[in-house]
Amino acid sequence: MKISPSILSADFCNLESDVQLIEDTADYLHVDVMDGHFVPNLTIGPPHVKALKKVTKLPLDVHLMIDNPRQQLKWYVDAGADIITIHFEANKYFDEDFEFYVKHGKSQEYPYKSFKDIADYLHENNVLAGISINPDTAIESVQSYVRYFDLVLVMSVYPGFGGQSFIEESLEKIQKLDFLRDANQWGYLIEVDGGINVQTAPLCAQVGADIVVAGNAVFGADDPVLAIQNILDSCK
Ligand code: DX5
Ligand code: ZN
Repeated sequence: MKISPSILSADFCNLESDVQLIEDTADYLHVDVMDGHFVPNLTIGPPHVKALKKVTKLPLDVHLMIDNPRQQLKWYVDAGADIITIHFEANKYFDEDFEFYVKHGKSQEYPYKSFKDIADYLHENNVLAGISINPDTAIESVQSYVRYFDLVLVMSVYPGFGGQSFIEESLEKIQKLDFLRDANQWGYLIEVDGGINVQTAPLCAQVGADIVVAGNAVFGADDPVLAIQNILDSCK
């Protein structure tokens, strides 16, 4: 099991020291980008990703909880993200995006028409591509796209806030994703985000998860390094 601590629960006035504290124990750094529309919370954007890139060697695992990832992908690529995960549910805004480009006479410039185009674009820029699904989205809705991606992020809480409780039904989805990749020899990693702690991380490990995200359980703990070690140990 690998761990991607989420800075959502870190001290935003002391991000550099919080990140450096966990740098030798964590595998990735999870960066939650929220636009106040796709989710009812607003966090950070490309300048913060760029700043984080300068102070850590950890791969930046950028989770875009935004409506229009297609318009903003390049910003996060340029800022130095190592993994960019978009939400499957953002596809309901894809037509609106297109209308925007048509209205401005730029339909020829419309960048990424499909999930595959998005993954291809990221790969061309040496960024790993992730696709995320919300608790109410069934694996069946996303299973024809996952093959294009390096990572599938299962939301085990409704996205928007840290410190929520793990939704148990997520385990079945992880198991289905694990089965699908074995059956089809697909290579994506399975990452789980929300409500992860020493009780829930081992449940995810048992059904095939590769990476857990943890915000509150790491940065809300008195000793974040020990908290990470305990979560990883709980999965052995
Ligand atoms: C929630 C975010 C998570 C969040 C997890 O929308 O995507 O990454 O930081 O927080 P915890 O681990 O506190 O549930
Ligand atoms: Zn996240």
